Amino acid sequence: MSTDDYFASVAESYDRLQPIVAGPWYEAGLAMVRDMVPHEPKEAFSFVELGCGTAVLTKMLLDHFPLARGRAVDGEPAMLEIARKKLAAYGDRAAVEQADILLYRPPECDAVVSSFVFHHLPPEKLPETYRRISDALRPGGCFILLDQMTVGRAWNKRVGQQGWRLVWRHTAEAIAGGLATQDEVDARFALKRKMKEEGKDIEYRHSAEQVMEGMQAAAFDEVGLVWRTFASTILVAFVRGGRGD
Ligand SMILES: C[S@@+](CC[C@H](N)C(=O)[O-])C[C@H]1O[C@@H](n2cnc3c(N)ncnc32)[C@H](O)[C@@H]1O
Repeated sequence: MSTDDYFASVAESYDRLQPIVAGPWYEAGLAMVRDMVPHEPKEAFSFVELGCGTAVLTKMLLDHFPLARGRAVDGEPAMLEIARKKLAAYGDRAAVEQADILLYRPPECDAVVSSFVFHHLPPEKLPETYRRISDALRPGGCFILLDQMTVGRAWNKRVGQQGWRLVWRHTAEAIAGGLATQDEVDARFALKRKMKEEGKDIEYRHSAEQVMEGMQAAAFDEVGLVWRTFASTILVAFVRGGRGD
């Protein structure tokens, strides 16, 4: 099973199980991405979501910004099928597109957002990917990246276990509340473990410092780390111009 097969196999249950198995910072992180979009709710602007999965974030933005238009992009057809159904109600405010982020040139837009995707992209491909994103942004536009990243000295063992404690508490609460069964949660973690053991779970450890450097080299004018809970980190990167200058 490749990473692609993994996303195909989890697509159907993704919206229900991901907020449970990905820890309490999954939904908190998405909400923070929404809050980092530098527009007022009644402003018209356009955004692109890279690696949208089932388009949870695109839907959240379209709901919060009723005049915004969004394009949800992903490589996995099973994810996109759900995204398409979910976004159909938004008419021409929403578009869904199948593409590989490693080659994709986003259309001109005001914001690019992405959540929990870039750690699947190989580090050597990141500079050109940031460049294609900065090229697409209008003056003053921004890239808001939520992903797993390291910061500073590595921690793994005891600090990492504190994170897992919160994940287990979160899953236990969801199971007690009838949102998922123990078997479903166990099966998701077992699948991930199996893929890791077989070397098929392609995840890279990007450091926030290197990502920020890479963004600056790719013509982002101002880059900041604005939120972090354990490894889940949000970087906001602006290109020059617009009302902020
Ligand atoms: C962990 S899911 C995150 C989905 C969604 N952004 C969220 O926060 O729930 C990762 C997504 O990235 C997509 N993906 C991974 N690598 C990709 C690539 N190179 N091009 C396009 N999509 C990719 C997968 O298909 C999957 O839908």
